[in-house]
Amino acid sequence: MSTRPRILLTGANGQVGWELRRTLSCLGEVVALDSRAMNLADPDVVRQKLREIAPAIIVNSAAHTAVDKAETEQERAYAVNAVAPGVLAEEAARLDALLVHYSTDYVFNGSGNAPWREDDACDPLNVYGASKLAGERAIAASGCRHLIFRTSWVYGARGSNFLLTMRRLMRERPELKIVADQVGAPTWCRDLAEATALALSQVSACGFDQWGVYHMTNGGETSWHGFAEAIQALDEFDETCAPSHLLPIPSSDYPTPARRPLNSRLNNDKLEQTFGLRLQDWQAALALCMSEK
Ligand SMILES: NC(=O)c1ccc[n+]([C@@H]2O[C@H](COP(=O)([O-])OP(=O)(O)OC[C@H]3O[C@@H](n4cnc5c(N)ncnc54)[C@H](OP(=O)(O)O)[C@@H]3O)[C@@H](O)[C@H]2O)c1
Repeated sequence: MSTRPRILLTGANGQVGWELRRTLSCLGEVVALDSRAMNLADPDVVRQKLREIAPAIIVNSAAHTAVDKAETEQERAYAVNAVAPGVLAEEAARLDALLVHYSTDYVFNGSGNAPWREDDACDPLNVYGASKLAGERAIAASGCRHLIFRTSWVYGARGSNFLLTMRRLMRERPELKIVADQVGAPTWCRDLAEATALALSQVSACGFDQWGVYHMTNGGETSWHGFAEAIQALDEFDETCAPSHLLPIPSSDYPTPARRPLNSRLNNDKLEQTFGLRLQDWQAALALCMSEK
């Protein structure tokens, strides 16, 4: 009889969730659910599914990630980002399961220039960040064994993200105005999924008890404008298409419904000290991601 643990994965069609399907598969039997299979906005459905599947590990990569929309969809953002993680955590505690969850640099207000540490004071500027922080707190309050990985500026070869939007717009418009005063680390969803599986394999291999929040991003830093320049430098344009001129602008020239932090740098030392894991620099990750056809 197999003793492989059952791993329930939410958000299985999301950027990170899609990659987790593969990386978690070496650790156990993955039950991958999308929003149709389990709507996180319905706590009764979540409880029922959890009791039916009885996982040993829950990996919650689902979230309401539309940052601007969340300003006008507060109820939905809180249901998915705050209430649902709390319900998952309560069920994890009941099953003695381990909960892995993802959070965001947007729990911080973006002041200063220093990379944020895990125990720095949170002060979100927008509804998305506030709802994600409420999710973190609900998990901590449940008493379940948990790992919360805060990450930033996630992209990959599929889904909806800055990389794919830029590659399209660079072929459509002669000039693009890109925010240059928000600084953070673009993070490849594949690296997050690999590091999550590596951390999990360590947790199950020894008497691990350092539950809590960890920052997990690719190394280095840049602005959205710097990210766009790197994408353009790596992209291939045919001779009929002149790539756009990339104009750096301040956030104040690009008003959005949700305010965003200027300093999104996250300090990843705790992840390295605890798990011996450090993700590659963002430029190397971007080059690898873009080298896949
Ligand atoms: N994207 C970023 O830049 C970023 C930055 C920092 C932190 N994070 C965090 O990283 C994690 C992964 O993000 P991601 O970029 O992979 O997100 P994503 O690509 O937007 O995927 C999120 C997934 O959540 C699912 N979802 C949304 N509402 C749901 C509901 N009511 N019930 C069940 N599932 C629902 C969606 O499922 P369906 O497709 O089935 O609707 C979607 O596949 C999230 O916790 C996010 O907050 C992301």
